Amino acid sequence: MSETGLTTTSSLSWPSGLPKNDITSNDSSVITEKNTSNKPSGQLSNGLLGWYAICTTKDLKEDKLHFFSMYNEPLVLYRDKDKRVRCIKNLCPHRGASFQGGGIKDGEIVCPYHGGRFSAEGNCTNLDRITCQHIIDSNYNNYAKRIHLYQYPCIEKDGYLYIYYGGKAKTDLSEIEIKSSLDNTLPESYGFKPSDYAYEEVCVDFKCDWARIIENHLDILHIFWIHGDTIPDKDVNREVITSFHQNITRDGRHIESKYNHKEKEKGEFITIKFIPPGRICIYKGTPETARYIQVLDHIPLAKNRSRVIVRHYRKFMKNKLITKLILFRQLQQRIFYKIFCEDYLVLKTQTFNEQMGYIQKDNVKLLGEDKMIQYYWDWFNNSLNNERPWDLHPTNADTNKVHLDMPMAYPPENKTLMHKNNRSITLNLIARLLVPIGLLALFL
Ligand code: FES
Ligand SMILES: [Fe+2]
Repeated sequence: MSETGLTTTSSLSWPSGLPKNDITSNDSSVITEKNTSNKPSGQLSNGLLGWYAICTTKDLKEDKLHFFSMYNEPLVLYRDKDKRVRCIKNLCPHRGASFQGGGIKDGEIVCPYHGGRFSAEGNCTNLDRITCQHIIDSNYNNYAKRIHLYQYPCIEKDGYLYIYYGGKAKTDLSEIEIKSSLDNTLPESYGFKPSDYAYEEVCVDFKCDWARIIENHLDILHIFWIHGDTIPDKDVNREVITSFHQNITRDGRHIESKYNHKEKEKGEFITIKFIPPGRICIYKGTPETARYIQVLDHIPLAKNRSRVIVRHYRKFMKNKLITKLILFRQLQQRIFYKIFCEDYLVLKTQTFNEQMGYIQKDNVKLLGEDKMIQYYWDWFNNSLNNERPWDLHPTNADTNKVHLDMPMAYPPENKTLMHKNNRSITLNLIARLLVPIGLLALFL
């Protein structure tokens, strides 16, 4: 028996893969394969390059630049004059400065170096400034045709900003070949309507391997141990040993693992879906009826730099006034931060072990109930070999690290936001106590 009581039936090698014909059924796990794509059975059609949720609507402030990166490539988001989101390569096409230190003027991005301004389409709108036309008269018509921002396709939906990351930004978005539909990434394609729910969300940055964080979020085993004292569910704690039936499905678009309590009357525990390249949905109950759904988005900023956007959708506590009064959002966020902090040390040290080459086939053994993780690594290694996203913008030991640390804005790496949230809870509690005391004092 493992610590959660999941019956161990086999040891799997890691990470190179479970042979495809070794997919077996046993009394604790059943694997079924549905093929809805042109790929061979069980293979996911999306790879590492594709649609990523990279920011929340709330986090892209108007007239502000939002810096981030994808697979080492520095990028910036902003809203153009029509409030549409633009994702551009963080490189001014005049002399190659970054837009760090620049700004937005009337919906146009402004370079900090010579003041070059660019329209939503990426054209320079004040050539006279950057060409010194105001000093030296010359013919710059040709130059105007060549200077242009580089962009990625970007869509805003349900409070998320999605980009199609293909590794090569273009001056003309119509030249980008989009190989997968955004619909395959959207939560509503997986059985639930976001509009039926209220939600809380946070962003969290980690200095560790992106793929390891996804592995962590697919792993239910660790929840009982490392998060056992934090998760507000009496059935999830260190002392409880719970048994589940596990059912894994792969259908070309996602991998799904369903955990049902062995005691029939208790029904389903959770369902986890991995939707490549970077999304995980965790349902408490079936997708159509779940009262509570967690959506986790994973963003590969750079080597050892990763961001997670976590959003908790709920069908309960939907009254805005009550949730505000009882500080529901802040209290939820406090739990998120605590859970991420609990994982962080493990993720950093596990990343190190992997990079040292210690996590090899013969050194570690997956359990039977880790099959979902095995399938994830199979997909990951396959995509890594085919698409090689880390080779598109390679860095080396001499590379200036300026873009690595700058986007690290969220805890747990930077704990300021967590402390700010705790402070806000304390101040709000004091305010809520002072109001009735003050009123009482007035009447006495
Ligand atoms: S480098 Fe940007 S305007 Fe010159
Ligand atoms: Fe965790």
